Amino acid sequence: MENRSQWGTRAGFILAAVGSAVGLGNIWRFPSVAYESGGGAFFIPYLFALLTAGIPILIMEFTMGHKYRGSAPLTFSRMNKKAEFVGWWAVLVAFVISTYYSVIIAWAISYSIFSFNLSWGEDTEGFLFGDYLNLAEVPGQVGGLVPGVLIPLIIVWVLVLGILFRGVKKGIEVANRIFIPLLVLVFLVIVIRAVTLPGAAEGLNAFFTPDFSRILEPDVWIAAYGQIFFSLSIAFAIMITYSSYLPKKSDITNNAFIVGFGNSGFELLAGIGVFGVLGFMATSSGVGVDEVVAGGVGLAFVVFPAIINELPAFNGLFGALFFVSLTLAGITSLVSITEAYVSALVDKFKITRTKAVLFGGGLAAVISLLFASRGGLHFLDVVDYFINQFGVAMLGLVEVVLIAWILRKSNVLKSHANSVSDIRLGSWWTICLTVITPIVMGYMMLGLFKQNLLREFDTATGNYGEYANTFITFGGWTVAIAALVIGIVLSLTKWKSNELTEYTEQDKEAK
Ligand code: ALA
Repeated sequence: MENRSQWGTRAGFILAAVGSAVGLGNIWRFPSVAYESGGGAFFIPYLFALLTAGIPILIMEFTMGHKYRGSAPLTFSRMNKKAEFVGWWAVLVAFVISTYYSVIIAWAISYSIFSFNLSWGEDTEGFLFGDYLNLAEVPGQVGGLVPGVLIPLIIVWVLVLGILFRGVKKGIEVANRIFIPLLVLVFLVIVIRAVTLPGAAEGLNAFFTPDFSRILEPDVWIAAYGQIFFSLSIAFAIMITYSSYLPKKSDITNNAFIVGFGNSGFELLAGIGVFGVLGFMATSSGVGVDEVVAGGVGLAFVVFPAIINELPAFNGLFGALFFVSLTLAGITSLVSITEAYVSALVDKFKITRTKAVLFGGGLAAVISLLFASRGGLHFLDVVDYFINQFGVAMLGLVEVVLIAWILRKSNVLKSHANSVSDIRLGSWWTICLTVITPIVMGYMMLGLFKQNLLREFDTATGNYGEYANTFITFGGWTVAIAALVIGIVLSLTKWKSNELTEYTEQDKEAK
């Protein structure tokens, strides 16, 4: 009889799932993606992606984990032995993400400390790339390790692996019970301060004013789907793993709605807070909001410190609260990303959790050193882009096509979810998974491949961002393809126990 770990309470599971979903993606990525994609015009594709793909896939993954009670590879393998590789592919994507995600949290820890005496000075851009990251000039060059990144990175891994060693109930659940309420509290303080700053309304206008001229651009839709998948932690093995620890009697559908809307609510709050502050900055320097906004790394680590310098009062405190909230949100997500592969190793190779954490987490920690080197940011930028588009988004499409069209499991999953949930899944759920998502995403992925492959061979340089061909090929494509290939190889290895038959017997008993 299998003895799988379990959450202590329903609230514990919901907090852990929200903790996984709310992460760097909400605070660091969402506001800039939304703005770059046309402000208010982004909300239509975003809501469409949330309602037709995000929440339906979240329900699907919760149901899969709950029904088949396994990490992603075990779950897929129990559905159909030939599908196991999809589970491993997702696990490997999670592994890759954890190697650079940890480094961004390390920067946030450093910046929490820098906040106290605003040690980034006036030139926040020069500080980030020069004094702090000591960024290598040529992309692809590794350079030495950067001590200012290395030390907080060690702290991140010690904390995350420490939580994972303690297990699902005593480690993950307890950590989320402490960190998530704390995060919400700290973030509310930030948002209230942000929207009461002079000029905040300007920022909110920029954020919410729709730019309908861009709504038909494929890039805006790709950005919306990418954001939803990353932000909800779907299609990279996490939610399947977390729901495999649910007790038999669990309201799956309701939980999925709570997590999905909770995550988007937080995301919106982050957008309001960030743009309130940007509006303040724009007004006080007499420029438009579009002149102070920046994407990705630049927004949190260049623009924000510059704004913190200008705040009328409590600059250091506000800064510290912002970067502490980034750290808390990041840690609870990294715990879930790492648990995705820890759980897979335990299931497949029948090793103890301690060994799986040491091996899986240890390996990720060692690889993360690459991103803590002087060339780290260049690697991070390319790997993040490719693993998200050709890892997470691609996996989302493969998952729905596999389940809806190849294995034809949507009805089985629907009846399972309905047998335990208050809200009954209707035909809307099936239509979203079998028709809408495959069509919209299939079309999007075709466009994305075309865009990246054509650009790749078009010119000698300047394909993705300003990076050279060889760097993109090795940094981006290799990592994205390696995740799939290694996933296939791992799925060919033998199970170290009778996991699959055990399930079938139990399942028969249940029937
Ligand atoms: N869902 C996590 C985030 O948004 C990975 O950062």
